[in-house]
Amino acid sequence: MKTVTISNQHHTISMSQIAIGDNGISDPATQKFAHWCFDQYLERGGNCFDTARVYGGGLSEAALGAYLKGKPRDSYIISTKCGHHDMAKPPIGRLSEREILSDADKSLRSLGCEYADVLFLHRDDIYKPVEEIMPVLHKLVTAGKARILGASNWTAGRIAAANAFAAQNGLTPFSVSQVLWNLGLTTAAQTGDLTHCVMDEAEHRWYAENRFPVMAWTSTGKGFFAKTAAGLPMSSQAAQYYAWLPENTARAMRAKSLADALHMPVSAVVLNYVLSGPVPGIGVTAFSNEEQFHETMRASEFTLSAGQRRFLECGLPAE
Ligand SMILES: NC(=O)c1ccc[n+]([C@@H]2O[C@H](COP(=O)([O-])OP(=O)(O)OC[C@H]3O[C@@H](n4cnc5c(N)ncnc54)[C@H](OP(=O)(O)O)[C@@H]3O)[C@@H](O)[C@H]2O)c1
Repeated sequence: MKTVTISNQHHTISMSQIAIGDNGISDPATQKFAHWCFDQYLERGGNCFDTARVYGGGLSEAALGAYLKGKPRDSYIISTKCGHHDMAKPPIGRLSEREILSDADKSLRSLGCEYADVLFLHRDDIYKPVEEIMPVLHKLVTAGKARILGASNWTAGRIAAANAFAAQNGLTPFSVSQVLWNLGLTTAAQTGDLTHCVMDEAEHRWYAENRFPVMAWTSTGKGFFAKTAAGLPMSSQAAQYYAWLPENTARAMRAKSLADALHMPVSAVVLNYVLSGPVPGIGVTAFSNEEQFHETMRASEFTLSAGQRRFLECGLPAE
């Protein structure tokens, strides 16, 4: 599987272009299937497991750590996230020094490992100056607890400000971002969570100009495109995020016609959209059954051309 290189002044990692999400690993009802997915994923050359302190009510990291136990530490990448807001409180990231450091320590204890390959701040607190945040994250890197720093649901403007401050002060910068990004169009308000950060044209331009790696979350649109194209019912979240806009249905139908021409599943074409453009893209995805796994993972077998991506976006024929 192709990889994306992500680095800072201390470390470099090669992350497979498809990353696998928690996939319900901490739920006894889905754990066996999650293990099956993870085994298959590693066999196909995938190396990045994406989790977070809050996933599975705090149990996901421990379940992932148990799965990875005994595997050579340099054979996989753990991407985890700290600083998620408290759901019962205002939706602002918990980004005080105490909260970041204590979340990170809890993550490492749960995962049973000495360091996270990538440590994300799960959310932003736009009222907290980056000058207060970056020295705390740098401490985690110099203590050997995190190798690469990531910003999840931060705007490009805040990442640029944080990295300018880090550069001026010899601190570790953010090297990767996680935002909601796929073939579809939606907004944070439409997802029902204003702390979400959604890729749009202006953000995309910044990532492309800076060749800044993005791990796209909800990279297949929660199945909206594949299910719309096949006329199948979809989850209420997939519908909530995407069905409100007729353009998303049009994009699903264009994805189907391109998928038919390429003899590929629709979900593979949709995932490939974030892997094949000018932004160094990694798709974080998840599966509910074996067929979905096999279909979506085929995204690693081809690369869409700029013309094919444009066709998906606006219907102009791919030359
Ligand atoms: N940083 C953040 O704030 C953040 C937020 C959200 C997620 N994430 C990460 O991103 C990961 C993936 O998120 P996601 O689950 O939203 O990703 P996604 O890839 O957009 O959606 C996965 C879902 O799409 C459906 N699907 C998958 N393959 C399909 C196929 N071939 N045909 C039809 N439907 C298919 C399945 O849902 P059905 O059960 O409906 O079939 C599956 O559970 C998470 O596990 C997490 O690690 C990060």
